[in-house]
Amino acid sequence: MSARTPVPIKRRIGTANTPGSTRVMLLGSGELGKEVAIAFQRLGVEVVAVDRYRGAPAQQVAHRAYTIDMSDEDELIRIIRREQPDYVVPEIEAIATKALRLIQEEGTSTVIPTPLAVQLTMNREGIRRLAAEELGIATSPYAFAYSREEMKQAAAEVGLPCVVKPIMSSSGHGQTVVNSRDELDAAWDHAAADGRVNMQAVIVEGFVDFDFEITLLTVRAYGHQTGRDATYFCDPIGHRQQDGDYIASWQPQPMSPLALEKSQDIAAAITSSLGGHGIFGVELFVKGDEVIFSEVSPRPHDTGLVTMASQRFSEFELHARTVLGLPIDTTLLFPGASAVVKSPRAGKGVGFRGVADAMDIPGTDVRLFGKPAATVGRRLGVVVATGEDVHEALRKAQTAAKRIRVVS
Ligand SMILES: Nc1ncnc2c1ncn2[C@@H]1O[C@H](COP(=O)(O)OP(=O)(O)OP(=O)(O)O)[C@@H](O)[C@H]1O
Ligand SMILES: [Mg+2]
Repeated sequence: MSARTPVPIKRRIGTANTPGSTRVMLLGSGELGKEVAIAFQRLGVEVVAVDRYRGAPAQQVAHRAYTIDMSDEDELIRIIRREQPDYVVPEIEAIATKALRLIQEEGTSTVIPTPLAVQLTMNREGIRRLAAEELGIATSPYAFAYSREEMKQAAAEVGLPCVVKPIMSSSGHGQTVVNSRDELDAAWDHAAADGRVNMQAVIVEGFVDFDFEITLLTVRAYGHQTGRDATYFCDPIGHRQQDGDYIASWQPQPMSPLALEKSQDIAAAITSSLGGHGIFGVELFVKGDEVIFSEVSPRPHDTGLVTMASQRFSEFELHARTVLGLPIDTTLLFPGASAVVKSPRAGKGVGFRGVADAMDIPGTDVRLFGKPAATVGRRLGVVVATGEDVHEALRKAQTAAKRIRVVS
């Protein structure tokens, strides 16, 4: 299906666990998938949650669960054919995208947003070439390299400082900011050791000295007023990253009207060329009135956890409604913020102390993800908060998150 093909809308919602149920299969069952599953459950949809380990967060709230390697094409096809879901909703990047194409062609399931979008965004090369070379969107200078020597050449072309990233990785894995040439060997080794699957290549990006970075949640949905697909935007989300992983976010991020307009133009261009229905997290760097595209997730975004406190409908509810072809509303109700709870320890079945103290701060709420095993630095929970303004909301969220201690 091309990006221009209208997405068929099913107007009947069935009852879960009956023969006429509306069935959704989540590929990836982490904390974002868990909230998506809950959003579908609230609409009576049957949820099948797939992950590579047993007891993943979304599996705990699903009707059924499967534990498979989702990068294994045959296994993936086998369970999709067995379950015959109406919608296949990817939550992670490492999925056998050939299987998704095949499934969509068979016509039983719709892949959200499209098989092409999932394929292009799981690989930094696919999405970067689409944005910069086909759509002419501003990005950092970049070059791809397929060997250590090519990477050194690429860094010379792009200039220092630069960022070296495996083309297949997420959450900052395998990334290095390189300030001098003698750091390049270590950057290659780091990418090779930490990249996902078998590292075939890296992207070398010029380091962008941005004022702030945002996630612009962008929804492509069926417009009930017009009968045509339309693009909707949430208020911009500001966030702070540490070692390539998000630690806090807030909404709305204050920005100039011109920068916001450019952000929305970029987000509309990239998401409409990816096509389909669903929510996208468009990551952008902002410097003054200039906006630079970084990357896009064709699914809810981790920095968007804040929307559970700040919006009329969270990004997870928006995703679920959009998948089902239901009307959406991206209204921001309150300035909000989120702060993550990371584990300082490794172990199975950890505990949490101080949750009551965290919740004691007015306007805060806590989510614990229920991950069966902790590793050092793993995200186990999040605090969301509202405030008079984003500063107050962020202060509350961070204070509350600090009160939560991960214990044995
Ligand atoms: N070219 C760049 N210049 C400056 N900072 C960058 C650049 N690329 C990445 N970063 C910083 O590193 C963070 C993570 O980078 P990126 O989003 O590309 O990685 P990722 O592994 O896909 O992360 P995630 O999957 O969590 O979004 C960015 O949010 C930004 O803070
Ligand atoms: Mg990112």
